[in-house]
Amino acid sequence: MASRKKDLSIEVCGLRFPNPFLLSSSPVSNTAEMIGRAFGHGFGGAVYKTIVDDRTKIIHPSPRMSSYDAPARKRIGLQNVEQTSDRSLADNLADIAYLKKHFPDRVLLVSVMGFSKEEWVMLAKASEAAGADMLELNFSCPHMTVEGSGMKVGQALGLVQRFTRAVRKVVKIPILAKLTSNVTDITQPALYAKNGGADGITAINTVRALTEIGLDDFVPRPNVAGKGAMSGYSGPAIKPIGLKCVTELAQCQELGLPISGCGGVETWIDAVEYLLCGASTIQMTTGVIHYGQRIVEEMIEGLSDFMVQKRFERVSEIVGKALPNIHPTDHFDLGWQGVAAYDLSRCVGCGQCYIVCQDAGGQGLGWDEQKRRPIPDDDTCLSCMVCSFVCPVDDPPLISHLPVQGKAQVVPPVSR
Ligand SMILES: Cc1cc2nc3c(=O)[nH]c(=O)nc-3n(C[C@H](O)[C@H](O)[C@H](O)COP(=O)(O)O)c2cc1C
Repeated sequence: MASRKKDLSIEVCGLRFPNPFLLSSSPVSNTAEMIGRAFGHGFGGAVYKTIVDDRTKIIHPSPRMSSYDAPARKRIGLQNVEQTSDRSLADNLADIAYLKKHFPDRVLLVSVMGFSKEEWVMLAKASEAAGADMLELNFSCPHMTVEGSGMKVGQALGLVQRFTRAVRKVVKIPILAKLTSNVTDITQPALYAKNGGADGITAINTVRALTEIGLDDFVPRPNVAGKGAMSGYSGPAIKPIGLKCVTELAQCQELGLPISGCGGVETWIDAVEYLLCGASTIQMTTGVIHYGQRIVEEMIEGLSDFMVQKRFERVSEIVGKALPNIHPTDHFDLGWQGVAAYDLSRCVGCGQCYIVCQDAGGQGLGWDEQKRRPIPDDDTCLSCMVCSFVCPVDDPPLISHLPVQGKAQVVPPVSR
């Protein structure tokens, strides 16, 4: 790929981000020291870990996270029961002031969470006074138990509007509402946030989930002294949910607010996908936990190379580029059926394609036991492509989808 460096800056809510990459609010943005180092690696901004009033005494469960591994890949997801910041408000405000003084060209968002209207107001004013460039209202943590906090706010439309409005009245800086995906339609709370005066939306926070149950102790992970809980799931496994939510928000014409995309971003490709679906900035936590802050260096390079290759001059030109291609399923042109096309010269004869076609496909694929090769049949192939999912030869794929216009749709034979 070409190596000419691009200007990756983007303007959102009147603020210039040197690039769209931000630390999201979490343990990766817990102190000025951590955020300062991340800025050193190139992050364009950061959302400071959610701060709360000192009257809320935060003691984190121990352990507070568990890693969800798939056999071929470590950390496809991360389950956590972490709370908001456990540091004193004074310490957090001092760190915010320090960061603004030493990194004036980076954008510092402060995530806040109140447990009453008065607390939201107090935290918002204090953050602005300390130098925050933007606020992010945490309406989305999925494991808060106090009524009227975290995800419970994001699920109660009236509260979203009420708390946003209370904050809007007392600060001048832009406000993002960070919403939960644990709702039927994320555009609803987003519209209430807009009515309350929000300038943008962050989507998504962790997804409420249970990832694993220990088979010896029957306790969900993380195992906190014999107890587990439904809590926040993050990392690559939630990227499809994040992309869905960002797309729904970006397609909502009535909303028309900038979106900060979050959830499962670990590569520049993930980041570009979020931009294409309508996000203007990209936040990440689990990727930083997995690979360290230096993850952003590859992202800057990857995005820059992508822009050179695709002839984009500004990051803003990428934002929403995929939206015209995202349709309801009844808009598909069903005149295009297709076949699974096989490059048998590279077949290793494992027979997986034949088994899956018999057990989960259209049973159209034949099998030559002597040669140990599949016998493709274009007429009976459903083009469901399950054969390609199990084929071990995938670089480049041995089995690819070949669209054919006008081919009749194949109905699997009935056998008794
Ligand atoms: C351990 C942990 C703690 C988190 N704490 C917060 C928090 O205090 N406030 C917040 O808004 N989001 C919090 N998050 C959510 C992240 O900011 C982010 O929205 C989520 O993890 C999805 O992004 P990711 O897949 O890049 O991790 C936390 C996530 C993790 C893993």
